[in-house]
Amino acid sequence: MKPWNRLDECRRKASGRRIASLFDADRNRAARFSATFEDMLFDFSKTGIDESALEALIELADCADVARKREAMFAGARINATEGRAVLHTVLRNPSGPPVFVDGTDVVPGVGATLESMEDFVRAILSGKRKPASAPRFTDVLNIGIGGSHLGPEMACAALAPYAEGLRAHFISNADGANANDVLSSLDPRTTMAVIASKTFTTVETMLNAASVKRWLVGAIGEEAASGHLAAVSTAGERTSEFGVPRDAVFGFADWVGGRYSLWGPVGLCLMLAIGPGRFREFLDGGRAMDEHFRAAPHGANLPVLLALVGIWNNQVCGHATRAVLPYDQRLARLPAYLQQLEMESNGKSAALDGSRARRQTGPVVWGEPGTNGQHAFHQLLHQGTQIVPCEFLVAANGHEPELEAHHVMLLANCFAQSKALMEGRRAAGASHREFDGDRPSTTLVYDKLTPRALGRIVAMYEHRVFVEGAILGINSFDQWGVELGKELAKSLTGSIETGEARTDEDGSTRSLLAHVHRLRKG
Ligand code: F6P
Repeated sequence: MKPWNRLDECRRKASGRRIASLFDADRNRAARFSATFEDMLFDFSKTGIDESALEALIELADCADVARKREAMFAGARINATEGRAVLHTVLRNPSGPPVFVDGTDVVPGVGATLESMEDFVRAILSGKRKPASAPRFTDVLNIGIGGSHLGPEMACAALAPYAEGLRAHFISNADGANANDVLSSLDPRTTMAVIASKTFTTVETMLNAASVKRWLVGAIGEEAASGHLAAVSTAGERTSEFGVPRDAVFGFADWVGGRYSLWGPVGLCLMLAIGPGRFREFLDGGRAMDEHFRAAPHGANLPVLLALVGIWNNQVCGHATRAVLPYDQRLARLPAYLQQLEMESNGKSAALDGSRARRQTGPVVWGEPGTNGQHAFHQLLHQGTQIVPCEFLVAANGHEPELEAHHVMLLANCFAQSKALMEGRRAAGASHREFDGDRPSTTLVYDKLTPRALGRIVAMYEHRVFVEGAILGINSFDQWGVELGKELAKSLTGSIETGEARTDEDGSTRSLLAHVHRLRKG
């Protein structure tokens, strides 16, 4: 039987059976349906996956040639077929690794050299050797970027706050002037370094924000001094010079690093400015360790592969349309947003690699918030709503606040209570509103502490999860054509917003919205 059919069969078998009953039938279930890597434990025993489903899922990965595709990625093959690009963010975290060739050139030495020049730059800033014109040192870094040039750095800066010994990091991403205004009003232009992060250096939001920030700097400290406050990370070096960024403050990378996979390289500059080069290297080491695990561990003991297979089971096999990412780790508050781009921009596709229509459901909707906050908000629906939302819990065994140990005990207890309640539910005879159906699947990832290395492993694990899901679904996880139409339409609508004149071919709804806005803006 083909693996998808086998999985459909497993699902039919599982439908009348409660997850909790699987533990009665197999006392070793928790050990059998979990995997470890270093201090990380990934427990997927609180799902409906049984022995035969796990076998079928692994067979599915084998039939989809996941191992060969994985090696092709690591070797620099142009697996991003619609853009004709290699996918080599893994090289960014292996700057002293073996050669990897793109068009006959080993790209590893260049990555190492860029990393070293970032480190020199950051050391010079943090030591005060490279200083602003009118203050003894920089105190703040402002990252101007959007999507992959924002979400990764912001998520990681928040995650690694206990290691932040450098500049205070701030972010402007949104085209909304409220974002620029509110962030700039809390900053001193005399001590702020602005990093313009844009792979293409053409993204309209970023260019608009960069221009506004430059004006803010020039207005406060003058044109010449302002350029000393600018740095850029981009694949488009010449555009950064046109913008006035000094050459020695520009850090380049190649088109084989996708925006949402770019945190490991120059896009991580503001993270490095916040935590320092040593901690940044620890973050890279964590990512590389996960790469090695991903390449070496058999599928049944491989964290990214198992995470992907659970995802496939929940979404493509069982039909659960969304998944909630619930970090019981306040500093991972931005992880769900980061994963929304990583997972949904990567696997939210309708076309298969060969251009045909994807035959199965592709990526699910990913959403979430940190626990315990979510418990007092949307967990009601998770426990008693009519749709099943598979949940992914993440929690550290230890916090960074020994003096607040009681908080961490409560955090852990709540995390485990939620997955237990979701699975077991509760009967309440004659009071349906107090009933919990239970039988709701979840996974839990436990790690020792949210260190730079741990974060590196977590992020790389999710990247590879997306890769495995994409490989199984036969889609290209590395392009994002679906963002283009809106960009084009926004360009053509800008004129109509300014003049209030709708184009003759405008649809009725947009025409009416334009007219209403025009009336309001005139007043
Ligand atoms: O519009 C989508 C996108 O291209 C993302 O893939 C990317 O992360 C983001 O925009 C920002 O792009 P850039 O880094 O080129 O400014």
